Amino acid sequence: MTGSLVVVGTGPGKAELMTPATQAALARATDLVGYGPYLDRIPAGRADQRRHASDNRVELDRARHALELAASGHQVAVVSGGDPGVFAMAAAVFEAVEAGDPAWRSLDIRVEPGVTAMLAAAAEVGAPLGGDFCAISLSDNLKSWATIERRLAAAAEADFVIALYNPASKARPHQIGQAFDLLRAKKRGETPVLFVRAAGTAEARVVSTTLGEADPSIVDMRTLVIIGASTTRQVGRWIYTPRSERGGA
Ligand SMILES: C[S@@+](CC[C@H](N)C(=O)[O-])C[C@H]1O[C@@H](n2cnc3c(N)ncnc32)[C@H](O)[C@@H]1O
Repeated sequence: MTGSLVVVGTGPGKAELMTPATQAALARATDLVGYGPYLDRIPAGRADQRRHASDNRVELDRARHALELAASGHQVAVVSGGDPGVFAMAAAVFEAVEAGDPAWRSLDIRVEPGVTAMLAAAAEVGAPLGGDFCAISLSDNLKSWATIERRLAAAAEADFVIALYNPASKARPHQIGQAFDLLRAKKRGETPVLFVRAAGTAEARVVSTTLGEADPSIVDMRTLVIIGASTTRQVGRWIYTPRSERGGA
């Protein structure tokens, strides 16, 4: 097979946060496959480049389409936001490979890393991910709410800093409030909570509060929520988690 497939991430939004390796992969591609708003972030590539924009909720169909294009000789780039391996298209591509045409296993498939929202959000406020942390998607489209609750409880028990992706959507406005209720039963009310909207873009907005006072209604689909560990604290206008479990200075 002469085609290839590379899975890339555009970063959190600002052009400078798209890696040079991703820019080079996009410039080489004959076909870009991805959710429309992510494709809109990409400057025009080679003259014969075609764009296949799709709805955001059909990841596996999009992955299969990209694999079919690559198998028929195209140089395909599958485009996600942020990093393509974090709650995004890279896993969907491999899921499609696993379930699909055995010939797809011989394709030239690569993944380029990108800057994920959690890292851009952390950088907006200081260094809240300085100690051990975990990332949980609050979306129950692909897993049960019971699984999410179990993971939130375990993360609180282990005293991880918790980064919450997909905290709310129009179809799921209440789950972030339920997550806060669960965490309030297990962590101190003074625990720092950060709502970072549009991190890594010119419109970035940060609301810094505490678990006791966090207002879930300000969250939307472009927000990343960070909930501190017991050592996470404020210094000046920054929030950080010391690397030492003894709590730093
Ligand atoms: C389906 S996940 C995709 C994550 C993406 N692959 C990444 O690595 O950032 C979408 C969620 O990521 C978060 N997100 C993506 N971009 C963001 C940004 N610029 N600022 C804050 N959160 C963002 C939001 O929580 C959003 O609901």
